[in-house]
Amino acid sequence: MQSFPTVDPIPLPAPIWLLKLLHVVTLALHFVAVEILLGGLLLAVLLSLFRGSRSSNVAARAIARRLTVVMTFVINLGVPPLLFAQVLYGRALYTSSVLIGVYWISIIGLLMLTYWLLYRFSARLEEGKPAWWVGLSAWALAGGIARLFSTNMTLMLRPEVWREMYSASSAGVYLPPGDPTLEPRWLMMMAGGLFVGGLWMVYLGGRSTFNAEEKSFLAGVGGKVAALFGVVYLAAGLWAAGVQPEVVKAGLAGHSAHPLDKIAGMAGYGWLALVALTVVVAAAAGFGKLKIGLLGWTGAVLVLLVELTLVIYRDGVRDLTLLSKGYDVWNRVVVTNWSVVGLFLVLFVGGLGALGWLISVVARASKTMEGAA
Ligand code: HEM
Repeated sequence: MQSFPTVDPIPLPAPIWLLKLLHVVTLALHFVAVEILLGGLLLAVLLSLFRGSRSSNVAARAIARRLTVVMTFVINLGVPPLLFAQVLYGRALYTSSVLIGVYWISIIGLLMLTYWLLYRFSARLEEGKPAWWVGLSAWALAGGIARLFSTNMTLMLRPEVWREMYSASSAGVYLPPGDPTLEPRWLMMMAGGLFVGGLWMVYLGGRSTFNAEEKSFLAGVGGKVAALFGVVYLAAGLWAAGVQPEVVKAGLAGHSAHPLDKIAGMAGYGWLALVALTVVVAAAAGFGKLKIGLLGWTGAVLVLLVELTLVIYRDGVRDLTLLSKGYDVWNRVVVTNWSVVGLFLVLFVGGLGALGWLISVVARASKTMEGAA
């Protein structure tokens, strides 16, 4: 029985490859921001809870101060992939979103609460008040939001359970029945948070606003955390890949009509190699080898590549899973509106230019030492 709603008669206004490219790039950036938030927040909570030294206080405050800005990136870099995903996979994604409607819409409230708690967490640390429980509440909420995203992104791939869910309630009050891919997928994002959060600390350790003692503290703790959780991240990734249906595994191995599926499979191997390499870089920082600044930048570039390969692989998993259930993302009528596409690209490049200029202004601004406040 056909579970997917009928296709929208309005054709797509841009080539599918272009929509997919923009989706992959913007989603990888969203994932970088999400991982910094999830991991950086938990690390700041732990540093503020076990206030071992002056450096750990300075580090907790410095991280917390930046997290409110990180949150703006999480949200703003989440909107573009949401739009592209809805254009490409709307019939699946809208259906799953409606089926868990109450939870899905609650994300807006949860986000606002998380945001407010982040400000409170930072303010309490600046005032020297105990703040760990505020930060921990924000982290639990952010982890809950991540769980809801994982739930929806897996439910959209399961048309076989939609009818049963809708029969149980049309009000969107139930979560979907268990799915073997959900746990590893969510765990990956959570473990990846500590991996990326640790690397972020290494990067901060290379900044000139910290004194020598704070720098080596940031790089030492961050590097060790990143090395450890890089291994957990890797294990969760292998678990997530292992529980995929056989037809998806075969497609990723190259037994698929579409060449992009093979590229997605190769991106999976690329992800493995990049995470392993990043673990080595993190360990070098954690155990005081090489220059921190250089390791920080190397880690930042590697994280970007790790998330990019993950998103490409994940895209292949989604396309192959949907294809096995009768949904071919490439099978759409496209009538490209080149003037709109051109205008979009001009604004996109202009926006990137404005962002670069803003970053250069921040980089040139006079700085105060983090520990001085
Ligand atoms: C604290 C806030 C947030 C957290 C922790 C978070 C976390 C996540 C996680 C873990 C995933 C991956 C789910 C999976 O595939 O297993 C995800 C995907 C996604 N997130 Fe976020 N997110 C947040 C906010 C947002 C916001 C505000 C938006 C948009 C307005 C957004 C848009 C998306 C989209 C579109 C995807 C998946 C796209 C796709 O599969 O094509 N996120 N997010």
